[in-house]
Amino acid sequence: MTKVIKGGTIVTADLSYEADVLIDGGVIVEIGPDLKGDEVLDATGCYIMPGGIDPHTHLEMPFMGTYSSDDFESGTRAALAGGTTMVVDFALPSPGQGLLDALQMWDNKSTRANCDYSFHMAITWWDKQVFDEMEAVVREKGINTFKHFMAYKGSLMVNDDEMYSSFKRCAELGALPLVHAENGDVVAELSAQLLAQGNVGPEAHAYSRPPQVEGEATNRAIMIADMAGVPLYVVHTSCEESHEAIRRARQAGKRVYGEPLIQHLTLDEGEYFNQDWDHAARRVMSPPFRNKQHQDSLWAGLQAGSLSCVATDHCAFTTDQKRYGVGDFTKIPNGTGGLEDRLPMLWTYGVGTGRLTMNEFVAVTSTNIAKILNIYPRKGAVLVGADADLVVWDPEKEKTITAGSQQSAIDYNVFEGKHVKGLPRFTLTRGKVAVHDGEIRTEEGHGEFVKRAPNAPVNAALSTWKELTAPRPVQRSGIPASGV
Ligand code: URP
Ligand code: ZN
Ligand code: ZN
Ligand code: ZN
Repeated sequence: MTKVIKGGTIVTADLSYEADVLIDGGVIVEIGPDLKGDEVLDATGCYIMPGGIDPHTHLEMPFMGTYSSDDFESGTRAALAGGTTMVVDFALPSPGQGLLDALQMWDNKSTRANCDYSFHMAITWWDKQVFDEMEAVVREKGINTFKHFMAYKGSLMVNDDEMYSSFKRCAELGALPLVHAENGDVVAELSAQLLAQGNVGPEAHAYSRPPQVEGEATNRAIMIADMAGVPLYVVHTSCEESHEAIRRARQAGKRVYGEPLIQHLTLDEGEYFNQDWDHAARRVMSPPFRNKQHQDSLWAGLQAGSLSCVATDHCAFTTDQKRYGVGDFTKIPNGTGGLEDRLPMLWTYGVGTGRLTMNEFVAVTSTNIAKILNIYPRKGAVLVGADADLVVWDPEKEKTITAGSQQSAIDYNVFEGKHVKGLPRFTLTRGKVAVHDGEIRTEEGHGEFVKRAPNAPVNAALSTWKELTAPRPVQRSGIPASGV
């Protein structure tokens, strides 16, 4: 049974034009005027865009003594409700656990996904087993990204020597390292100091992670990646210090990508000074929300191209879970939600304000990350042969965000009360209509794992350059006699 999306304007990362889209067997089979299909989806007045790809989620993640509350079912349902058709989650081996063993656990959780997904593999410890298994993760399991936490000392954090070894291994395998860039040693010191001084509330979480810890770690990771000869992707870039390091590196020809979150673009540090403990704790995440100058820097980075993708880092904890940290901010589970709201919020505050063009919106929500992850144009494109992961976007549809009507399993929403204009009329996941004019028609288990091949074009180009410029002995004809 074919489907045709009729009467809309196709908006991609580089083009806007009127055409119909014909879908068969989950893929786009034709694009053009006056197409016919068995089922018609009316896109009059709408934009037909590649579905969003969220490269940073933590669904059912074991963390800080609990599990994040959205699993692959509710998380991907929230994603689809907001126009996102693919998520990339993190497989996190516990210390000493093998990578393939951890991957099996994440495979088991993800069988309930409503939309397509993939995994980044985290490097949380280092030895020969990890080194060896990285090859199977890339070549057999189809994972070409490895995440490194420079924070969370004592649990997920890796040190510089481990990071350098892992980055070199990534270079050999044609994989891309990711970093959570915060100086975990300094954060641990500052946290202990703040607690000792009686700073125990959620606002102290922000005091313990100033922009300097992020700027320092970002720059360190960039330099280590450069020495290892590998591109680098910096997750949740939240401040000017980190953005500056990325901008500088890119200007110097280094292959570095930065990923701001929709939360950091639209919410600021004032949230932590709210009188209501729950309100502040619900917004505790790492890095914390920043001030308006940092927000302006992130928006400018999206405009200038020095920052590449907008993600959510969706890691949702209920109010009860957040309350583990009453009396000690370091025990508040770190993380916020956003999967359902990323596209409407970015459209409203980006396209709606003139900070982004529609094409830039598509680039930073879908196409850029599809290229970085080496899944373009199967994902992130409106092209014949691409998966029919599409959002039919109604720029006139409005709502006020509220937890009462969200898909996420938690009891609040950090964007509560925000008015958004621009929402999906339809969301299609490999041709299946999962959102139909406000009605959720998701199908548990419909989502499939997307394998990602190594050696993306940027990896290949950088390897060529590094090989060409590698240190070589100078060939000399006459060698003087030893002076000894
Ligand atoms: O606070 C956050 N970001 N929680 C999720 C884990 C991480 O650091 O990405
Ligand atoms: Zn992180
Ligand atoms: Zn994260
Ligand atoms: Zn299905």
